[in-house]
Amino acid sequence: MGSIQATRGTRDILPEEVRYWQQIEAAAREILGRAAYQEIRTPIFEQTNLFERGIGEATDVVGKEMYTFKDRGDRSITLRPEGTAGVVRSFIEHSLNAQGGVQRLWYCGSMFRYERPQAGRQRQFHQIGVEVLGSPSPRADVEVIAIFADILQALGLKKLVLNLNSIGNASDRLHYREALVSYLTPHKADLDADSQDRLARNPLRILDSKDERTQAILTEAPSVLDHLNPDSQQRFEQVQALLTDLNIPFLINTRLVRGLDYYTHTVFEMQSADLGAQATVGGGGRYDGLVAELGGADTPAVGWAIGIERLVILLQQLHSLPAANVDFYLVSRGTQAEAQAVVLAQKLRQGGFTVELDLSGSAFGKQFKRADRSGAAACLIVGDDEAASQTVQLKWLATGNQDAIAQSQLFDITEELRQKIQAAKLLH
Ligand code: HAM
Repeated sequence: MGSIQATRGTRDILPEEVRYWQQIEAAAREILGRAAYQEIRTPIFEQTNLFERGIGEATDVVGKEMYTFKDRGDRSITLRPEGTAGVVRSFIEHSLNAQGGVQRLWYCGSMFRYERPQAGRQRQFHQIGVEVLGSPSPRADVEVIAIFADILQALGLKKLVLNLNSIGNASDRLHYREALVSYLTPHKADLDADSQDRLARNPLRILDSKDERTQAILTEAPSVLDHLNPDSQQRFEQVQALLTDLNIPFLINTRLVRGLDYYTHTVFEMQSADLGAQATVGGGGRYDGLVAELGGADTPAVGWAIGIERLVILLQQLHSLPAANVDFYLVSRGTQAEAQAVVLAQKLRQGGFTVELDLSGSAFGKQFKRADRSGAAACLIVGDDEAASQTVQLKWLATGNQDAIAQSQLFDITEELRQKIQAAKLLH
């Protein structure tokens, strides 16, 4: 019988790669903490109609990509394709706005979309996201964008470009939609098949088409920015002015509309030239209508989500990360020695050291080879002689220096050991 493999569109994140994930999560947690964002954890599955109402039935995500199934109680359940709808549901359900003021929330976790897998695109993927609920101010838009930029900077990613647009309020968008449809309708036969289909369903998404002929037609298309009312226009100018004050460069991209229906006013994406077809590391925008749409009080909001897999690809291109640091690699052979080594390893760990215990019982030579490969600062060796005298050989792997020492004495010189380990790691 053949072995079972991971399901198409999912992948294992192996220990070497996990280091990058930890680096990203640590940077995000630190930067979000400094801006007083609080973590929220919502369920991985929700009732299907949350996403239908929240994200929009005409979107690709709802129309083609959701993992939807009936549970044993005949309820329609969907694995979350994104985080915003669930956070908003939770915000309403728990009256998180009861104290008034602004809620600043962040989350991290798995999302699911039935897309065609390729580099940087999976069916199970992971996002870190933020949602700021309760402020209509352009300052909130700029705050979330600045945090996004800070996270990228903390990770050493400098080459990303912030694409920025405004799609106005609902009525601006309605006017723009009419203008776009009347411009595109005479060209309908020349549009790609997807865009023809979208012309009636979701015409703004045609602006996203990668098809060359469609793109050529779009060069003359009306711009959404010409359809903003004066308030929306002023709002967009304030966002740009504040980004300029913060020295955050941006590119106005009038074709940027995003794939989810809930957006209003500011929309943005961080794009990289180093990611091939899946150039967008993350994106977001304002969604002033969503809370009311999902049954809550009228609450303006803005947020974004980063695709962690895509950030990992960029980080891997940038640098490699060292393996976790081991202080001691513990080698032992012989019944009594092996028993003592278990106790020694545990006591050293309790004392704050990182200890890898060789469990193989193989010849000393093989264990020493593994000690060398482990990257440990020092090797501790217990053989029959050491076991009989309750001692241990302490060998510094960078220099080869070796001394015998009483096992109990190890715990009297922990400070000295720590300093020597530190020095050995610097030599590495
Ligand atoms: P989104 O643009 O659909 O926005 O997704 C955000 C990011 O998730 C993308 O830029 C990408 O990096 C990553 N992503 C999306 N789909 C996949 C996939 N199939 N495989 C790998 N990565 C993927 C949202 O999800 C909104 N909820 C963001 C938001 C929050 N807007 C306001 N608040």
